[in-house]
Amino acid sequence: MNQQGIDILPVEWVKEVINIVAERLVVVDRKGIIRYMDSAYCDFLNITPMDAIGKHVDQVIENTRMHIVANTGIPELSSVQPIKGSEMIANRYPLYVNNELVGAAGTVIFRNPQEWLDYSSKIQPLLDELQYYKRKFEKEHKSKYRFSDLAGNNPRFVEAKQLAERGSHSQSSILLIGESGTGKELFAHSIHQNSTRAHYPFIRVNCASIPENLLESELFGYDEGAFTGAKRGGKKGKFELGHMGTVFLDEIGDMPLLMQSKLLRVLQEKEIERVGGQSPKAVDVRIIAATHRNLEEMVHEGKFRQDLYYRLNVLKVEIPPLRERREDILPIAYILLKKLEKKFNRQGIYLSNSAEITLEKHSWPGNIRELENVLERAINVLDGREICLEHLPLYLRDLEEAEAGYPPSLSDKLDQEKSIQPLKEIMAAVEKAALAKAIKLADGNKQKAAKMLGIGKTSFYDKCKLYNIN
Ligand SMILES: Nc1ncnc2c1ncn2[C@@H]1O[C@H](COP(=O)(O)OP(=O)(O)OP(=O)(O)O)[C@@H](O)[C@H]1O
Ligand SMILES: [Mg+2]
Repeated sequence: MNQQGIDILPVEWVKEVINIVAERLVVVDRKGIIRYMDSAYCDFLNITPMDAIGKHVDQVIENTRMHIVANTGIPELSSVQPIKGSEMIANRYPLYVNNELVGAAGTVIFRNPQEWLDYSSKIQPLLDELQYYKRKFEKEHKSKYRFSDLAGNNPRFVEAKQLAERGSHSQSSILLIGESGTGKELFAHSIHQNSTRAHYPFIRVNCASIPENLLESELFGYDEGAFTGAKRGGKKGKFELGHMGTVFLDEIGDMPLLMQSKLLRVLQEKEIERVGGQSPKAVDVRIIAATHRNLEEMVHEGKFRQDLYYRLNVLKVEIPPLRERREDILPIAYILLKKLEKKFNRQGIYLSNSAEITLEKHSWPGNIRELENVLERAINVLDGREICLEHLPLYLRDLEEAEAGYPPSLSDKLDQEKSIQPLKEIMAAVEKAALAKAIKLADGNKQKAAKMLGIGKTSFYDKCKLYNIN
């Protein structure tokens, strides 16, 4: 402090001033160890101060002579120093404190403005490109939801949410069990988002939708020349892409037995082997698995490996179906309406009393996804703001059927004159019935069912999802 009582410059200020006035500055001690490097120099070398500080200067800066100046005490001014392909002008000053040589301080600048222009015109497009890919990667592989997005006050639901939240901090596998549309994917996203891995990728694999013969290369990748048609340079699998992050294995109950053994190996050894690969690669991923199937029963029937089940089942989170948390139906419906209002650019939409009662009574076999579909459909046919019974699909309007939880049979629907409906709705009902019948006839084998109907697998799965068919 001086006589006027004013503090001398705080260290933080000094650092900022250095950043402003000196383009690129480095300070070493007498042994040539870096004690300070400003952000401009770090950016130029593409490192962080933490990468540099504590290292010998000749490990960090090419062609440096800073350690020599720190030793001889003789300044070297305006010498040419090539760094990263650019010729830089370096000034190196011995650093004396209280008449004692303690090290050296050095700056580098571009030799001439033209060179700086050349440099920035070469680097800038690369930086822009990098930024573009960074954003794209983050967008594709980032989890989208967090725990605060999971609505519901039912005690069992809250308990499941708390368990998942606590588990998110550990590295153990988590198994999410719940019927279709209960929010398993939302849970998986939230767990990742709340974990120490949040800044790394979140990779989702739908084990049911990838054909069996492709699943291995999808999960573990392949090396160049692994099979005909293999991409040059090979391809990373989902586990490699998820390194340091989370791999979400959705529909794990649909994973073929052979793949189950390979997955078990990854979980045990923490390494993967690419298809056609020469040597295993270490990967560090956290697994979240989800299924609507009863895995214990599948283990009994020999359809799911017991050892894998135990590995995945370190923490089991059971998400209750909507019909067992009826108190949440309306609050969730209103949250979904808010979301839909945004999507459709509408405002102030609400449910009539009778619509509310109907929604509360329905058994929601397709859970929250079904509720979402019903509300979206209602908004589509709604002119005003109030959603009434007439805006709900037929199968919900018939109270008796709704209580039983099943849509009325198609013939009833077509027979009753009063129930003549828009063609789109009738077509949807016919399509739904055909899908259900094909699945039944194919003994639950969806691939076979899709074939019987003469449609592609993807379209088949999309339709099943649309109609909440398992
Ligand atoms: N607790 C919740 N609060 C609000 N919205 C929810 C909640 N749970 C699920 N949803 C919504 O319901 C829909 C279905 O959720 P999600 O895809 O996570 O279900 P799922 O269990 O993975 O279903 P499936 O087994 O069919 O894949 C999503 O659109 C999601 O936004
Ligand atoms: Mg899902």
